[in-house]
Amino acid sequence: MSIKVVGIGGSVDAGSQSDRVLRSVLTAVEKLGAEVSVYSGFDLDLPPYHSGAVVPDSVAEYIAAVRQADAVVITSPGYHGTISGLVKNALDYLEELRGDDRPYLDGRAVGLVAVARGWQASVSTLATLRQVVHALRGWPTPLGLAINSSATTFDESGYTADDSVAGSITVLARQLVDFAENWSLQDRDRSGR
Ligand SMILES: Cc1cc2nc3c(=O)[nH]c(=O)nc-3n(C[C@H](O)[C@H](O)[C@H](O)COP(=O)(O)O)c2cc1C
Repeated sequence: MSIKVVGIGGSVDAGSQSDRVLRSVLTAVEKLGAEVSVYSGFDLDLPPYHSGAVVPDSVAEYIAAVRQADAVVITSPGYHGTISGLVKNALDYLEELRGDDRPYLDGRAVGLVAVARGWQASVSTLATLRQVVHALRGWPTPLGLAINSSATTFDESGYTADDSVAGSITVLARQLVDFAENWSLQDRDRSGR
């Protein structure tokens, strides 16, 4: 049975690099046999989350996809040194998973990528993504990527001429899939399925 991986991130800007990186990571994950779905840019243009929010129908599918996921990939642009409001708000909606058997991102590997026009914001944004994922009980992969979009670019197909970054995406995808496959096997053993 294939593992399910959900991608979350990007920005609403034309040619968003954080969107293209997200799709590139998901393509690498798909090549390893995973089933992927993506929520990026305008998919995440949601009303600000608050406690007790009535979740719009359009968001229910996103929440259900994360609920069923074995692993998650999150990419964020660096906005003023940290993750964008759009991505943070989408992650705040995961509060809807609080009462689940696997609350929030519990038991899920999470691949993280931060993309900014400089190193300072890409590195600080990656650190923030890790903090948020820890708070959501997820397991960030050992390798996370900080990408400087003034030095490394991705085209519409998700291709980059930066071999070093392309190689890192392959490693991240492998770590994500290995963790998810091992975890889901153990989970099945624990529950006797
Ligand atoms: C509101 C806003 C704030 C930004 N702040 C920073 C920043 O603090 N540091 C930086 O290096 N880049 C910053 N950027 C540039 C983005 O990080 C950059 O465009 C990157 O490629 C990711 O965004 P994208 O997915 O829209 O391409 C900012 C962009 C916007 C729109």
